[in-house]
Amino acid sequence: MTTASGQPLLQLDHVTRSFDVGGKRALMAVRNLSLHIQPGEVVGLVGESGSGKSTIGRMAIALLPPTEGQVRFDGSDLASMAPADLRRLRQRMQIIFQDPWGALNPRHTIGRLMEEPLLLHTSLTAQQRREEVVAMAQRMQLGLPLLERYPAQLSGGQLQRVCIGRALATKPDLLVLDEPTSSLDVSVRAGILQLLDTLRRETGVAMLFISHDLETIHALCDRVVVLYLGCEVESGPVESVFKSPAHPYTQALLSAQLFADPAVKTERQHLRGEIPSPLAAPPGCPFSTRCPMYETRCDAGLPAMRLDSAGMHGARCIRLAPDRFQITTGAN
Ligand SMILES: Nc1ncnc2c1ncn2[C@@H]1O[C@H](COP(=O)(O)OP(=O)(O)OP(=O)(O)O)[C@@H](O)[C@H]1O
Ligand code: SF4
Ligand SMILES: [Mg+2]
Repeated sequence: MTTASGQPLLQLDHVTRSFDVGGKRALMAVRNLSLHIQPGEVVGLVGESGSGKSTIGRMAIALLPPTEGQVRFDGSDLASMAPADLRRLRQRMQIIFQDPWGALNPRHTIGRLMEEPLLLHTSLTAQQRREEVVAMAQRMQLGLPLLERYPAQLSGGQLQRVCIGRALATKPDLLVLDEPTSSLDVSVRAGILQLLDTLRRETGVAMLFISHDLETIHALCDRVVVLYLGCEVESGPVESVFKSPAHPYTQALLSAQLFADPAVKTERQHLRGEIPSPLAAPPGCPFSTRCPMYETRCDAGLPAMRLDSAGMHGARCIRLAPDRFQITTGAN
């Protein structure tokens, strides 16, 4: 699938985002990140708390501008768009947050909440909107009696289905999902993930799926980007990254999780210590303070991204197997 512009649907090029945190200090939340999403593709973003996942998600849908670099949607640079064009474009990109309770007005019925985006963004008649809401509820596997109820009368899983239905109502091309199941009971998570997988196949919507949970990423995504202290340390097709992770951080993350599939188990390695504050990031490789393979050369600067011969799987580490990762990109 291609976009009208022939460009990737979402394109982050050398994006950096810092925040002023008082005095003369700036906190570098995202460093020199490049990420592309094609139409219909599902890309996972994984990393520990504070690694910059939500900041990237917000930049991807123009809720936050980058400090440096460019964010383009279907070829258009979001920073240089006129406000009216940006408003129109926003209908093509939607976000689902972790907390469905906070995302919905508690004084409106579920039916009204699901009708809202149709009222705002379409010229459908009242009858057409009602039919659309019923169809949406059925697609989200929500019983029709729920349309008369209020958010407080629904479970977290049901509310997250309402949020997903609302986000898809305007038929967006991109859905950013920021930890959409982490506030829900384990028992309802699988149902939501199954729904997302079905919707992705039925609607062709592309997704940027943010999660701490590698197992979820493995189940849902085509590609994965592993973040550490705001830097992309490894990325590639999910099968390749999970079967043969190259970066010591990805290896540690994978071995810390229990997978149902023994084929993706790796030798257990423990992550030592805590992720440093972005205000005290190490000078060279961001992972150097916890890396079991650290040597003084690692302090020389942010390691360049090196790719495998297919140009699909890459990592930033000076100790990658040279026969597997040969191509150095310009993405320093
Ligand atoms: N508005 C802000 N002002 C100052 N610092 C911020 C702001 N937003 C984010 N940060 C900082 O930027 C870094 C990245 O934050 P972000 O929320 O993107 O991480 P995250 O990976 O989504 O974490 P979590 O898994 O906890 O949601 C953190 O150190 C955070 O404290
Ligand atoms: S560059 Fe050095 S510290 Fe960083 S991951 Fe590779 S071996 Fe570890
Ligand atoms: Mg977050």
